[in-house]
Amino acid sequence: MTLLDGSDVQLMGTAVTASGIDRSGPTQVPVTRYISPEWMAVENEKVWPKVWQIACSTDHVAEPGDFYEYRAGWLSILVVRGEDGVLRAFQNACRHRGNLICEGTGSGLSELRCPYHRWAWNMDGRLREVPSRKGFGRIDNDEFGLIPAQVDTWGPMVFVNLDLDAMPLDEWLEGIPEDVSWASIDDFRCNSLVVRPMPANWKVVSEGFSETYHIQGIHREMLGHIDDVDAPQKLWHRHGVSYQQYGVPSPRLGRNVPDQVVWDTWIQCIGNRIGLDSTQTYACPDVPEGKTIRDVIAERVVAHQASLGVDISHFDTAKATGASQYNLFPNATVLVWSDMINVLSTRPGLTPDECQFVSMNFHRVPPGAPRSQPVTADLPDSTDMGFVMNQDIGIMKTAQRGLHQPGLKHLTLSAEECRVINLHRNLDEWCSE
Ligand code: FES
Ligand SMILES: [Fe+2]
Repeated sequence: MTLLDGSDVQLMGTAVTASGIDRSGPTQVPVTRYISPEWMAVENEKVWPKVWQIACSTDHVAEPGDFYEYRAGWLSILVVRGEDGVLRAFQNACRHRGNLICEGTGSGLSELRCPYHRWAWNMDGRLREVPSRKGFGRIDNDEFGLIPAQVDTWGPMVFVNLDLDAMPLDEWLEGIPEDVSWASIDDFRCNSLVVRPMPANWKVVSEGFSETYHIQGIHREMLGHIDDVDAPQKLWHRHGVSYQQYGVPSPRLGRNVPDQVVWDTWIQCIGNRIGLDSTQTYACPDVPEGKTIRDVIAERVVAHQASLGVDISHFDTAKATGASQYNLFPNATVLVWSDMINVLSTRPGLTPDECQFVSMNFHRVPPGAPRSQPVTADLPDSTDMGFVMNQDIGIMKTAQRGLHQPGLKHLTLSAEECRVINLHRNLDEWCSE
């Protein structure tokens, strides 16, 4: 098995900043990991059937009879809420001739019935009906249940794992739940889950959400209100995090950046967080003596949430504005702000050059807020996903094409890209076992 070649960096368990601490040399990753069917076959055998993956939100499967079908490559896992209120997952395969039993997502099921020849199971996976059963001879319902998978939740996210012997989700998540406990993520609800096809390997997309180095490349507007250079990063064994300060300009812009720049670029990129229209310009508010523009924006974030009935007044300026970006091995990025959570994940496609990009949005709700089904949609490639996300998506397409050039053998990574390196180190472990 090909492992990382070039020098390794020693980051495990070490806090590093986005400007990096390791100067001994870059880490190189073979390009074949992104384009070769052989490497993809190894991932398909050794990674996807064994790792915990985010399938959907708890809001998708909140009520008895709700279901969600999660796909990763050829894999299809059905998540269902039983009539007894228990959340279960099954391999989505009919025990007759293997057809998918359910596709997409929906509500109101009282049984799981294959559309092909109409075999049917109870919501707990036990076989209940076989049309023209006599023709099969003896069939014991207990022996033809749906094949179970593991399912568990963390906050408002539903995870699945095909491996019944895999470690519990709690253990899989390492220190992340404790690290993010300040945000009370149980108080968030999902408002949308959209899936978009991408002409890129799943790692190209995941890695685009695993470093802040590209902000000065493709998101130059964000430099006005995000410190992309000094963001501390931390690695657990499988996962990593970057703590990002919002409402302060990047050191790349030099000193004495006017407050107007911070204000304007905040609105252009995330004006909705303070209830303003990103397509408009607004005069910069006065900054009282002893305060910063970040303090003023933080007060607006808190006030906007208050107008929606949500109290986040206990958060200080840094927490009210900033983001913790968790990168979960192998394929998910969970961005936690005081007022919203964005889960960006990638599902492998059927070839190395394609994947599904999934964006799930969560917002904080007042205590006792009624639940509703999230908007769930497959988006065409032309969909406008917002100013910043459009920039990310555009570069991911050109990245995959560049990787196919025959003279390019390796990617070359800096310590600043330690979360990308950590993904590959973990792939080494999983793929070489
Ligand atoms: S394949 Fe499902 S009932 Fe025949
Ligand atoms: Fe980006």
